[in-house]
Amino acid sequence: MLSDADVLSLLMGRRAGYSLPQAFYTDADVFQADMKNLWQKEWIFAVPSAEIPKSGNYITLQVGAYPVIIVRGSDGEIRAFHNSCRHRGSRICSSAKGSAPKLVCPYHQWTYELDGKLLWAREMGPEFKPADHGLKPVHCLNVAGMVFICLAAVAPDASDLQKQAARYLGPHDLGNLKVAYQSTITEKANWKLVLENNRECYHCSGSHPSLCRTFPDDPNLIGGGDTAASNHGKAHVERCEQAGLPSKYLVSPSEQWRFVRIPFLGDAVSYTMDGKAAVSKKIGSIPFDNAGSCLFFHYPNTWNHFLSDHVLTFRVIPVGPQETEVTTTWLVHKDAEADADYNLQRLTEVWIATNDEDRRIVEENQIGINSPAYQPGPYSTAQESGVIQFIDWYTRTLENSLLGRFRVAAE
Ligand code: FES
Ligand SMILES: [Fe+2]
Repeated sequence: MLSDADVLSLLMGRRAGYSLPQAFYTDADVFQADMKNLWQKEWIFAVPSAEIPKSGNYITLQVGAYPVIIVRGSDGEIRAFHNSCRHRGSRICSSAKGSAPKLVCPYHQWTYELDGKLLWAREMGPEFKPADHGLKPVHCLNVAGMVFICLAAVAPDASDLQKQAARYLGPHDLGNLKVAYQSTITEKANWKLVLENNRECYHCSGSHPSLCRTFPDDPNLIGGGDTAASNHGKAHVERCEQAGLPSKYLVSPSEQWRFVRIPFLGDAVSYTMDGKAAVSKKIGSIPFDNAGSCLFFHYPNTWNHFLSDHVLTFRVIPVGPQETEVTTTWLVHKDAEADADYNLQRLTEVWIATNDEDRRIVEENQIGINSPAYQPGPYSTAQESGVIQFIDWYTRTLENSLLGRFRVAAE
């Protein structure tokens, strides 16, 4: 059993620039500490708003112990609620997604409006006040078409994120796209291994033959630092900025999120096997086809690619200490038609292959870390600056939260 104090002392004793001590990738108590101190405190990406376009459309999520429902109301607003009935607590919606005119608990049919108000409860007596038994709300924020939720009592301020997302992602008009395809895969690895793997391309040339046709594996473009460190990246950013497309590397003060627009290799315009566009109907107001990809990550659970012809969102949800769910969503212009404007296989094949390659990589990473012989190893500062940046954010955030708990307990 590791207490919070044990986790804190492991954190403080870790060697900077090295992978984490074994317990951070394997241990059930550290996993609980992650859930409590990060996942139930930070903004978590839940769903692109375009996935629930109509009144009554909903998705459900399980974040640690919390089942949550995210639903679009009859007024068009997207809201999140604890997916736990105010009668005797049953989970109300059990499917991953669906559509319903009202939210009806399957146990005794208490019926809620899409805005969470309790509408009907059978034979509860004259004293019963429906207004006191609405669904409990969860903080919910639409960030340029990406819906985030936060389980904390007080959500962190996200006004700067919203402002910058409007600038960088707004031109891709995410709210007016539609889901062309979605995949959810389970990776038998700790969520931090999934994130670490995403934050470097040291592994790309050896593992991603399809992706490497178009995606540059230059660490200056995708790692922890400014794109301008690469001449290729600098020229691309300048060209996009001149055309009115915000593209410069921008990282938040806490380094929790970042935007940057990177070029593709050669004259590629999309993540396809031949580099040509995957969708003939372009999205939003992107001034030219070869605008590359606007990369947006937000810790702890999302990285995304915004292209001129489609958008890819990624959502990471921890399931257990060594199990993580990764959902990838391909979004295209809402009027684009399959087989006329795009071919689904052509649109999805590169990232379906890449996701599976990454799944194998992180699962092997986990198996190796589970060995009693594992010891933290050094990150390459040239190739893995993005991993260093993520791990530093993680340790700083977890440490601050644990210290905050001790301070409150001492008062
Ligand atoms: S628990 Fe939901 S109606 Fe009884
Ligand atoms: Fe990868």
